[in-house]
Amino acid sequence: MDMNIRPRRLRNGASLRKMVRETRMDKSSLIYPMFVKEGTGIKEEIPTMPGQYRYSIDQLPYALEELVKAGVGSVMFFGIPDHKDECGSGAYDENGIVQKAFREAKKQFPDLYCIGDVCMCEYTSHGHCGILHGEYVDNDKTLDYLAKIALSQVQAGADMVAPSDMMDGRVAAIRSILDSNGYVEIPIMSYAVKYASAFYGPFRDAAGSAPAFGDRKSYQMDYHNRREGVKEALLDVEEGADIIMVKPAMSYLDVIAEVKENIVLPVAAYSVSGEYAMIKAGASLGYIDEASIICETAASAYRAGVDLYLTYFAKEIAGFMDEGR
Ligand code: PBG
Ligand code: ZN
Repeated sequence: MDMNIRPRRLRNGASLRKMVRETRMDKSSLIYPMFVKEGTGIKEEIPTMPGQYRYSIDQLPYALEELVKAGVGSVMFFGIPDHKDECGSGAYDENGIVQKAFREAKKQFPDLYCIGDVCMCEYTSHGHCGILHGEYVDNDKTLDYLAKIALSQVQAGADMVAPSDMMDGRVAAIRSILDSNGYVEIPIMSYAVKYASAFYGPFRDAAGSAPAFGDRKSYQMDYHNRREGVKEALLDVEEGADIIMVKPAMSYLDVIAEVKENIVLPVAAYSVSGEYAMIKAGASLGYIDEASIICETAASAYRAGVDLYLTYFAKEIAGFMDEGR
């Protein structure tokens, strides 16, 4: 046999395969999303996201301790308020639920990196991500609120803010209010390339944030579009974003790769609630092997180019990384 190139040569044995791996993953790139709610003694499992919980503030430190022990150094907080209104005032209340979470987390774990999701849908009575004008979300009016929300999170201790609302111009609005209040060093991770996706279904159950009417298609992106993702990313770069996020992850790997090619900022991807739920459901039925699927799914995001990975499997993935999987 005259064959001098044999790709299989480098697949022979686990240590050689690991040596020649193209994609290397690191725990410092993981961000774990968490839900906090009012009350005490609460750790309630989210029915559509088995293994994920809503925590009251007094229970939060136990969960954070587990996370830190697993080697995950960053969290993103979502607040579930008791009170909702038209303008989502709970989102910028200095004693709001997410503000309390930042204060508690930073007090107990000063080194834990705490990120705030900046949006209104968990806090508005109508469940939309902004201020309504009739049934339409008023872009420019919403910007003032998003800026206030971001500022109040930072004042409560957030290390970074991450607007997820998809209004035009919100990165600039947030940058400007942070700077004028002396927070020039606080980075903005923009959910720049966020699609209107059915993969958010379980999250909306978890946070009680489904829109009361209509959908989010007038602000979140149409999933038929890839080049528009680059447009959104470039706009947010110009507005001063520090990190660009693509969301969801699993069905959008082409978009991640495209965005990575076209900007010079770190790229994050959010493996969302529906991705988590599908893997959990499939595994609980015995149709797929959970651990293997988690590793393969995560690797696909990193292979596509992500620098940061938001995932409800952060703890598990950290464990698999330790094992060298
Ligand atoms: C708030 C927000 C959502 C998610 C992150 N921030 C829900 C939505 O846009 O409807 C989804 C996260 C997930 O599904 O895990 N706008
Ligand atoms: Zn929202």
